[in-house]
Amino acid sequence: MVDWTNPPRLFIPGPVKVNDDVLQQLARPTLGHRGKEYAQLHGETVDMLKKILFTEQNIFLSTSSASGIWEAAIRNCVDFDEVVLCTCCGAFSDKWADVARSCGRNVEELKVDWGQPTTVEAIDEKLATGQFAAVTLVYNETSTGLTNPVYDISKMMKEKYPDVLVLVDTVSAMVGLPMHFDDLGWDVALASVQKALAIPPGLAVAVVSNRALEKSKSVPGRGYYFDFQQFAKAAEKNQTPTTPAIPHIMALNYQCKKLLVEGMENVWKRHKEMGEFVRAWAKANFGLFCEEQYASNTLTTVKNTKGINVAETIKAVQTKHNTAFGNGYGKLKEQTFRIAHMGDITLDDLKELLAWIDEEIN
Ligand SMILES: Cc1ncc(COP(=O)(O)O)c(C=O)c1O
Repeated sequence: MVDWTNPPRLFIPGPVKVNDDVLQQLARPTLGHRGKEYAQLHGETVDMLKKILFTEQNIFLSTSSASGIWEAAIRNCVDFDEVVLCTCCGAFSDKWADVARSCGRNVEELKVDWGQPTTVEAIDEKLATGQFAAVTLVYNETSTGLTNPVYDISKMMKEKYPDVLVLVDTVSAMVGLPMHFDDLGWDVALASVQKALAIPPGLAVAVVSNRALEKSKSVPGRGYYFDFQQFAKAAEKNQTPTTPAIPHIMALNYQCKKLLVEGMENVWKRHKEMGEFVRAWAKANFGLFCEEQYASNTLTTVKNTKGINVAETIKAVQTKHNTAFGNGYGKLKEQTFRIAHMGDITLDDLKELLAWIDEEIN
């Protein structure tokens, strides 16, 4: 019998460990969502997120997981007579293409093998056909632990295809990896809070460019819950269209304050150090699933070169230490395993976990 009230410390790639001080924010007295107190909380949080994400454009707080904003990005930014180029390099980028199709949009996929990055050249070749209104990119593909070269891709798109909208899944990247939304020329960036923001699941952050917002006015069938126009109207009053997950926004406010005190350069550096530490361990004991230059600083996908029984190892660490790390995703199960190093996970946490895995494999 497991006990959900005493769960393992989480090193799976989301949800990740949440510190007690953050959890306490979720227990604050609630606010009326149309009251002045909520407007203050909302405005303050959005202003901090703008600094953290380097944007002066629109930030929407959505009471959904990130998948809701996958749908929102498509339904608001791609018209039915247009084509969206969905770049696919793993389970989550594949799924975004499925979501676009399920919204009735014309999708063309640009696929690479799992573990390979989406390249500037491949996107350039596709966009040169002049066929596409928008591109979907995944900054950090959580199923493979791969970081795509989104800065290079964005630079090329800005120079050569400035009219094509850039829709970016930053779910396991946001705050863990550099992100200068306005300079990159992005139109939508989305993430849920259970990754590097280190908050329990239940809220998503969407950054939306002014031109995406303008375009959405003329795109039919946006629905209601994820309509950017509804979000923008409510945002003028520092509100959300529907009753939001106020406790999560309190926790987000708290986390944003801490991030700004630390400074984003330091936050990214901290994630890089954790990434380097776990990669060094992975290379000494196993191998990396991705080429090192694309290996993520928010999670590591370890290639199971020793042929260990991953599920049994995870079970043993959980039984002895009440700590969990992740098996490989989908078809990569047992061939790989995944260790998160994002948010409020620390180097000391990782040292402990890796020593426990060492005990099981040696
Ligand atoms: C890269 C990526 N995109 C999208 C999602 C879906 O996010 P959510 O479960 O918050 O909808 C995940 C979840 O792990 C993810 O890692």
